[in-house]
Amino acid sequence: MNATYQSELSLRPIAGALGAEIRNVDLTVINEAVMEEIRAAFVKYHVLVFRGQTLSPTAQKNFAEYFGSLETHPYIQGLEEDPEVVAIIKEPHETVNFGGGWHTDMSFLPKPPLGSVLYALEVPDYGGDTLFSNQHAAYMALSDPMKEVVDGLTAVHSAASQYGRGGDSEKHKAERGSMHLEVSDEAHQLVEHPVVRTHPESKLRALYVNRPFTESITGMTRAESKALLGFLYGHCEQERFSCRVKWEVGTVTMWDNRIVQHYALNDYQGQRRHMNRVTIEGGRPR
Ligand code: SIN
Repeated sequence: MNATYQSELSLRPIAGALGAEIRNVDLTVINEAVMEEIRAAFVKYHVLVFRGQTLSPTAQKNFAEYFGSLETHPYIQGLEEDPEVVAIIKEPHETVNFGGGWHTDMSFLPKPPLGSVLYALEVPDYGGDTLFSNQHAAYMALSDPMKEVVDGLTAVHSAASQYGRGGDSEKHKAERGSMHLEVSDEAHQLVEHPVVRTHPESKLRALYVNRPFTESITGMTRAESKALLGFLYGHCEQERFSCRVKWEVGTVTMWDNRIVQHYALNDYQGQRRHMNRVTIEGGRPR
């Protein structure tokens, strides 16, 4: 961009820690200059919220593909025609939602996703917001001695607690029936990632452990690992690192999975919520 370039985006931060809302863009018709601004804003704010969109599954995929190739979820069945699009639905009679706790998407993969694009088709009258937490801010808020402890560590991740035998998908099948979540032996496979990863574009350092998928810290005793992970989870989930997205029909939110955790609130019992999610492939955390 040259010095006389005028921004075409109307962008407003939504919280001190992360997140920005962009009002004046139609995601189905974006030129390269606007796309460059969106990419820069994504790296800067980590969470972008676009209002008033109308996206077919194909249009949602086309937008997400500006950021990379699309991921097909290993354990969740996508739409028949568009397997990369996952419908996240909670029906009025269902009690357990999808993503209802702090987590990083698919950290059980050797190459976890870069990010996701979530589009609201039907929202409850109240509740159903999504929280995001800035894991770079969480890392920076650690004391220097604690940074030294976590900097060189790696952790073991797996999908077992969600998609393995006896995991949440199996336990909550009845209360979350409208989503097709598989239960698989493969979910028990282990992968190792650094506890602190470096964002490939901004070079920011960020904590990279999360409750559902991180099992243990490599080389520590079970007690040490449990205590350290417990501390890190409590630390990185603090409100001061977070922002909150309130959904309207037509809202699109995308998040950078390399630097944020997120949490879908389950406070709208008896109402329907329907989102379509597309996930972008990422690289190996370093
Ligand atoms: C998720 O991707 O974890 C679900 C987010 C949401 O439904 O708000």
